[in-house]
Amino acid sequence: MIVLGCDHGGFELKQAIMKHLDEQGKEYLDVGSYNTDSIDYPVIAKALCKKITDGEAELGILCCGTGIGMSMAANKVKGIRAACCSDTFSARLTRNHNNANVLCLGGRVVGAGLALDLVDAFLSAEFEGGRHQRRVDMIEGE
Ligand code: RB5
Repeated sequence: MIVLGCDHGGFELKQAIMKHLDEQGKEYLDVGSYNTDSIDYPVIAKALCKKITDGEAELGILCCGTGIGMSMAANKVKGIRAACCSDTFSARLTRNHNNANVLCLGGRVVGAGLALDLVDAFLSAEFEGGRHQRRVDMIEGE
């Protein structure tokens, strides 16, 4: 399962991503926000991360104005590895090497066309394990 979240700065982009996932027949949860009213992004980031740490979803996508605030908030949650990306190489490699479980996007940074490519790259890539597992474990302090 995929879980999506946004603040007002990422609302339009989340809408585009939901439509894209609908077209692909992919299921997702939506933790809000559900309109363009101003909302504090850490609230949404924490709600999305809880879906992952509770095991209801494996991967998440957070959209705010830059993607940065969401990534900062998400990375404070144990077990969450959030990557703010604006190029497809990084969106793919952060799954392959970092086992990132949250992609953060900036609705005021990337256009919808690029953002959907980033989503596809992130969702289709697999963690490679091996030497990368040891490094990910070091991030988690294990
Ligand atoms: C909201 O104006 C903006 O600060 C937020 O969407 C995000 O860009 C924060 O990192």
